[in-house]
Amino acid sequence: MFGSAIKYFIKMKISLSVACLFLLPFCLQSQSLILKDGWKIKTGDDMAWARPEYDDSGWKAIQPARVFETQGFEGYDGYAWYRLKFFLPSSLKEKSHLKESLNIFLGKIDDADITYLNGVEIGRTGRLDNDPKGYETEWQKDRNYTLPANHPALHWDADNVLAVRMDDANGGGGMWNGTPQVAFLDLIDYVRMDALTHAFELLPGRMTKTVLFSNTYNKPIKGIFTVEINQNGGIIPYSRELLTLEASSVFEKKIPLSDSLHGIVQITFAEQETGKQLRAAQEIPYILTPPEAPAPKINTPEVYGCRPGAPFQFYIAATGTTPMTYDASNLPMGLTLDKTTGIITGSIPEEGTYRVLLKVKNARGEVSKNFRIEAGRGIALTPPMGWNSWNCWGLSVSDAKVRASANAMVQSGLMRHGWTYINIDDGWEAPERAADGTMVTNDKFPDMKDLSGYLHGLGLKLGIYSSPGPRTCGGFLGSYQHEQQDADSYKDWGIDYLKYDWCSYGSIAPQNPSLDDYKKPYFVMRDALANTGRDIVYSLCQYGMGNVWEWGHEVGGNVWRTTGDIEDTWESLKNIGFAQETPASFNGPWYGFGDPDMLVVGMVGWSDQLHQSRLTPSEQYTHITLWSLLSAPLMIGCDMSKMDAFTYNLLSNDEVIAIDQDPLGKPPKRVKNDENLQVWVKPLSDGSQAVGVFNMKAELQEIDLKWSDIGLKTPQIYRDLWRQKGKIAGQSIKLRLPAHGCALYKISG
Ligand code: GLA
Repeated sequence: MFGSAIKYFIKMKISLSVACLFLLPFCLQSQSLILKDGWKIKTGDDMAWARPEYDDSGWKAIQPARVFETQGFEGYDGYAWYRLKFFLPSSLKEKSHLKESLNIFLGKIDDADITYLNGVEIGRTGRLDNDPKGYETEWQKDRNYTLPANHPALHWDADNVLAVRMDDANGGGGMWNGTPQVAFLDLIDYVRMDALTHAFELLPGRMTKTVLFSNTYNKPIKGIFTVEINQNGGIIPYSRELLTLEASSVFEKKIPLSDSLHGIVQITFAEQETGKQLRAAQEIPYILTPPEAPAPKINTPEVYGCRPGAPFQFYIAATGTTPMTYDASNLPMGLTLDKTTGIITGSIPEEGTYRVLLKVKNARGEVSKNFRIEAGRGIALTPPMGWNSWNCWGLSVSDAKVRASANAMVQSGLMRHGWTYINIDDGWEAPERAADGTMVTNDKFPDMKDLSGYLHGLGLKLGIYSSPGPRTCGGFLGSYQHEQQDADSYKDWGIDYLKYDWCSYGSIAPQNPSLDDYKKPYFVMRDALANTGRDIVYSLCQYGMGNVWEWGHEVGGNVWRTTGDIEDTWESLKNIGFAQETPASFNGPWYGFGDPDMLVVGMVGWSDQLHQSRLTPSEQYTHITLWSLLSAPLMIGCDMSKMDAFTYNLLSNDEVIAIDQDPLGKPPKRVKNDENLQVWVKPLSDGSQAVGVFNMKAELQEIDLKWSDIGLKTPQIYRDLWRQKGKIAGQSIKLRLPAHGCALYKISG
């Protein structure tokens, strides 16, 4: 199916080389037996296929590192087996430094597997469909099955048969991403050097980088630990010492750094006996957003849309010292403001445009802002902003994790910059519906209504996730043939946002869906949501198929995903973000907004194992700048409760956010697009223009950008929005942009 094709395309984008960069073991083995050729496949399931003597001569040939959909099994979901006969020479052992444990690497397997060697089970990952504990996908996990060299299943200097029993729930399936190989583990393979678990700690005057080491070997491992600073290609030695990693232990190595350092920290651990190395490099974070002022400032967007008669909730986002009092003159009938919390609630009975004056006061002064409520002309008139559980927690999301994020949204102060939605992605659904067909939550979500009540009390909103198909992408229950029942549950639970993800609808739609086929399930849920009478933001997720930006509005969407899933790599960010000119050209407050996917900043991981985003600080500035120019929905994808100072600073720049939330909602134009540099210009509601300048090179670039080169008149005044500093400009502007970094200006001249 086309849906499935998109799905495996998405899955294929993660590369093994990226994994190696982050110092996973098994990447540096020198003596390995490559198991690339000779694999065979059969769909179905039969335990006799595990036996080495089974005659598989009639099976089809298959390549291991590529999903089977691209190799003649288009659209296949379900059980399949892969088999390989290979010779295991004892010379592999002779040439290895350590000769204790042999690792069999199979790449990744979509979705779950049990692997046999010569008929003996040697490992399993995920859970197959018929597992008593329930199905569990592990499609993104590397398969490394390790055996002692004297394991009876290993036949040295003889033929061996690997048989992999696998279960593909939907989308891509089979072995993918990584060339299977067999190798002895070396000392370095027992060491993990992890620079991503801890963010740089930024304190006044100093900075600390913590590197986490673990040694899983039963003896100490020694090595030279070197720190260098790479400043624009010039390497400055920083420290060098002998480290002893005790047997079976974890060790935190702290690197104190001065906060005036710029550039890239390069760290190396060279194991003493073999010289084999682990390396990591990270750009030192730099802070651009100035500290929040004590005087009151209203950060709420200028316009908010609702439906007449629907429950209304709006929080006046404002910064400044507390306590603060809020006021609103000219509020339409039916609404009341809580003057101490800043939360407006009620319901507007009549359609209309209501012009309100918001006021916020604290010990440092008082400030006001014009605010327009549009009742009956659409909702989500500026791109929704908030948090979504997927990029951090994946399917391990729970009520407790959602509440922790909501609490952090409030306590960190981010909510006061306009971040509102707390959205649960896949993983909240029970395995079965109730007897009457009503949707039920799983035991990680004991009471959805209580959760929404809690969030609403904080001034936040709650989002949820489902699929028009029978199953979600994570294999949970979808809404197929229960759409109205589900929408009614959402109303009952107090849901404010629905992400509706195509996933297994690919098996309902015809093989080559027409435009009408793409639209069909989205119309159904649109009507179901409308029947609830609740303002539920409708977020379409079908990866951009059929140019969804051309008809997302027609099917009632407020926002629509325009791409496959984003990852925390520059490749992913670049390929998605800089391909949005056409999709975004449809954007507008009365139409809807293209969604290039959620933010990959802070601690992410798509599971309960989180790591710092692999995007450099400069790339993260580019991420937020580009998404703001695009008027993209801004959904934070990290564990909010572990937000570091850099990430908070990145997400709390009101002048940058205002570009995303500009009420005109006009799309940007790419006025310069070459290999090294891109410039995007977006018209703003006050007649000025936002200009984003992006360094596409992997090294620092000095740029002399002439206004005339990007179609602008020589301006009088421009403002650096990240630094929140205004300047007078001449004919051009001189820029020094770090690798993959950017600048964002507002030009009013
Ligand atoms: C798809 C979507 C993701 C996420 C997962 C959940 O891959 O594109 O954003 O919602 O499904 O399973």
